[in-house]
Amino acid sequence: MHRGELLLVFFVLTVTSASKDCISRPQVHAMEGEPFYLKFCETSSPVYKNETATIRWFKHDAFHQRVELNTESSSRITFNGYDLEFWPVELEDKGTYSSQVRNDNQSWTLTVIQRKEHSCFSEKLVTNKKVEVKKALKVTCENPNYSELINHTSLYKNCKEVINPPMIQKDAEFGDAGYYSCVFSVLHNGKQYNITKTTNITVIQGNSKITPAILGRKFETVEVELGKDVALNCTALLNENDMFYWNFLSNNSDPNVHEDVNKTAWTFEGKLHAYKILRIGNITEKYLSVLYNCTVANEEATDTKSFRLVRKEMVDIPGHVFRRGIFVAVFISVAVVCGVILCVIYKVDLVLFYRRLVERDETLTGNILK
Ligand SMILES: *[C@@H]1O[C@H](CO)[C@@H](O)[C@H](O)[C@H]1NC(C)=O
Ligand SMILES: *[C@@H]1O[C@H](CO)[C@@H](O)[C@H](O)[C@H]1NC(C)=O
Ligand SMILES: *[C@@H]1O[C@H](CO)[C@@H](O)[C@H](O)[C@H]1NC(C)=O
Ligand SMILES: *[C@@H]1O[C@H](CO)[C@@H](O)[C@H](O)[C@H]1NC(C)=O
Ligand SMILES: *[C@@H]1O[C@H](CO)[C@@H](O)[C@H](O)[C@H]1NC(C)=O
Ligand SMILES: *[C@@H]1O[C@H](CO)[C@@H](O)[C@H](O)[C@H]1NC(C)=O
Ligand SMILES: *[C@@H]1O[C@H](CO)[C@@H](O)[C@H](O)[C@H]1NC(C)=O
Ligand SMILES: *[C@@H]1O[C@H](CO)[C@@H](O)[C@H](O)[C@H]1NC(C)=O
Ligand SMILES: *[C@@H]1O[C@H](CO)[C@@H](O)[C@H](O)[C@H]1NC(C)=O
Ligand SMILES: *[C@@H]1O[C@H](CO)[C@@H](O)[C@H](O)[C@H]1NC(C)=O
Ligand SMILES: *[C@@H]1O[C@H](CO)[C@@H](O)[C@H](O)[C@H]1NC(C)=O
Repeated sequence: MHRGELLLVFFVLTVTSASKDCISRPQVHAMEGEPFYLKFCETSSPVYKNETATIRWFKHDAFHQRVELNTESSSRITFNGYDLEFWPVELEDKGTYSSQVRNDNQSWTLTVIQRKEHSCFSEKLVTNKKVEVKKALKVTCENPNYSELINHTSLYKNCKEVINPPMIQKDAEFGDAGYYSCVFSVLHNGKQYNITKTTNITVIQGNSKITPAILGRKFETVEVELGKDVALNCTALLNENDMFYWNFLSNNSDPNVHEDVNKTAWTFEGKLHAYKILRIGNITEKYLSVLYNCTVANEEATDTKSFRLVRKEMVDIPGHVFRRGIFVAVFISVAVVCGVILCVIYKVDLVLFYRRLVERDETLTGNILK
């Protein structure tokens, strides 16, 4: 091997191992079938810059005995500087691992998560991320740990591929919430492996409070019939802890006026809505022309809507009389129309009849005159 080639190999090796972050957390999770590594975290710096201390790797067996790993342990396991690499990691690899460099010890417990056939990611391996609505949402696929080996990167949202490029940059909307999976295809010894990193993105309402407001017109008249009941429905856009109430001039003991204790609330497009009903039973004159106000308020703002009950414009006759009147009116109209039609059809006969009447008259008068 020429010196140049040697240097190149050394350079590639150092770059590959240097770019990987060492793993200091003792509990590690990996996905079955994906490339994975453990890397020793150096605590004491080496005496010489050029020094590479030997590292020994152990796997703890069922009896907590350390069994040293070597290149013959498994065809899937390789050693690379301070890395222990799995190409790929399998379910049987779970367990406790430790490494020893000089007098330093480090150990990890590895959990290997079983691959699910029907899903492109595992819910046990997601990173949760919250983004405020209308704030910048950025999803990029970067994997510095394997950057030199990555051959192809693709991005999926809820397991559906996002068309190129494999990144998203926009203002967050509620519809953007979902599982975003970056799939890194890695080439190793001519074989392709996939590494999946999934982020669970939730779009949340911003911290800023909204100005509470009652929806609809600010003043409404409601037609009512005396003796009947009415339910006044007041709907508002508000924050969780805003005050929302009915107020009206009435003594508290009036059992006919009843306000719902709780508001009925729901979230639509990330905004909290609520309605509250005021029920007035057995309506009498005294409930008319009074204002029933519905108010939503917090420290910053107040909004009020007023309802007024008015007597429904009624025809002042009882229902059955009214119905009979209509029937009679219709009957008369039909009779008149029929009469006109008959007159038209029997026009000639009518004229003759008329003339005969007149002639008879004339003969009569004639007779008298004569
Ligand atoms: C590292 O460098 C020191 C001097 O800087 C030298 O004495 C030593 O032999 C070198 N060791 C290796 C492994 O090259
Ligand atoms: C490293 O760990 C092994 C077993 O856990 C123990 O026997 C050994 O003393 C440890 N060495 C150091 C330097 O802590
Ligand atoms: C994803 O985020 C939502 C909202 O925070 C949460 O309810 C859900 O449990 C998360 N899913 C997983 C797999 O953690
Ligand atoms: C790279 O490895 C470190 C240490 O295991 C890990 O914390 C980090 O999430 C990895 N980065 C990616 C993109 O997988
Ligand atoms: C990966 O790279 C090799 C050579 O660089 C290329 O032939 C192959 O098509 C690539 N594979 C994918 C999946 O992109
Ligand atoms: C890796 O993912 C690509 C799509 O990104 C897919 O076409 C390929 O079959 C996967 N390979 C393996 C070994 O899972
Ligand atoms: C009150 O009004 C709101 C909005 O118009 C509506 O969603 C709700 O169902 C109404 N409630 C009742 C009891 O009618
Ligand atoms: C209802 O609101 C109107 C207009 O804001 C106000 O003039 C009236 O005094 C209020 N009535 C009650 C009982 O609060
Ligand atoms: C309270 O309302 C009842 C029924 O409307 C009425 O009879 C009574 O006089 C009212 N009391 C007061 C103090 O206004
Ligand atoms: C109103 O809400 C409170 C607390 O949420 C609950 O304890 C109570 O039963 C509710 N009352 C009605 C009438 O729904
Ligand atoms: C309605 O009010 C009138 C007058 O106050 C009363 O005589 C009648 O009993 C009430 N009816 C009901 C159902 O409460």
